[in-house]
Amino acid sequence: VSDAGHRPIGIFDSGVGGLTVADALLRRLPDEALHYFGDTARVPYGSKSGSTVRRYSREAAAYLLSRDVKALVIACNTATAYAGEALHQELPIPVVGVIEPGARAAVAASRTGRIGVIGTTATIASGAYDRAVRRLLPEARVYAQPCPLFVPLVEEGLIGHAATRLVAEEYLRPLREMDVDVVILGCTHYPLLQDVVAGIMGPGVRLVDSALETAAELARVLEGCDLLRSPGAPPEHRFAASDSPLRFREVGRQLMGGIVQAVERVDVDGFVAASGAPPRDRP
Ligand code: DGL
Repeated sequence: VSDAGHRPIGIFDSGVGGLTVADALLRRLPDEALHYFGDTARVPYGSKSGSTVRRYSREAAAYLLSRDVKALVIACNTATAYAGEALHQELPIPVVGVIEPGARAAVAASRTGRIGVIGTTATIASGAYDRAVRRLLPEARVYAQPCPLFVPLVEEGLIGHAATRLVAEEYLRPLREMDVDVVILGCTHYPLLQDVVAGIMGPGVRLVDSALETAAELARVLEGCDLLRSPGAPPEHRFAASDSPLRFREVGRQLMGGIVQAVERVDVDGFVAASGAPPRDRP
């Protein structure tokens, strides 16, 4: 445990969904302080192109770096899919995304190697989960299914509604036909639909929640880099959003309770790392 460990962990998502990951992090690492940024002004990322998601992610990361975070958690599956590798290369601090940990847990849980993954349109189009799973288990068969209506259904509070069940039945039918034995919940909002998905897939299918695995991975990384925060004064968490702090606080409190206090509004549009010009994708 070192002094450097006293700095907060930076964590970002396209909006409030990443609070499911923040919650898992604090359960696993209760002494750590978080600095969370939700890009609520530009959500959703899941329907945007890879280059836009990468630009947004670099700006969110640059903002958090300017707040002196010791490590970065990309709590968004879509951002991890398109910017995980770039941020890992470009940033001077450890970077943990949600896809590798989710893939590892899926491979460990599967007996047949037939693995389903559900996510936003952009995450599925990236093929990132497919690659991550097959790096670990080359003979795995990965069946990927975009579920673009799940995020709005959750955000509209329709988790237990018949409409959600109908949509889920439609989306999950191909995975049932492919006889998968594991389904990766490859989107921040999907752990909230766990019961619906489990009910449709049946008891023989294990669901993998990337958030829990990401928390375990972060714990390993911090320990390996001697960056764990020593227990002592209770950690102070900070929350920032690019759109209405009020709305963020309201939803945040539903997901994480009283931990979400004041929410600061920040505009990260065009934000660049203090060290120089923002990295750009080559044309
Ligand atoms: N956070 C996104 C993800 O995990 C879902 C919401 C969005 O599309 O921005 O992919």
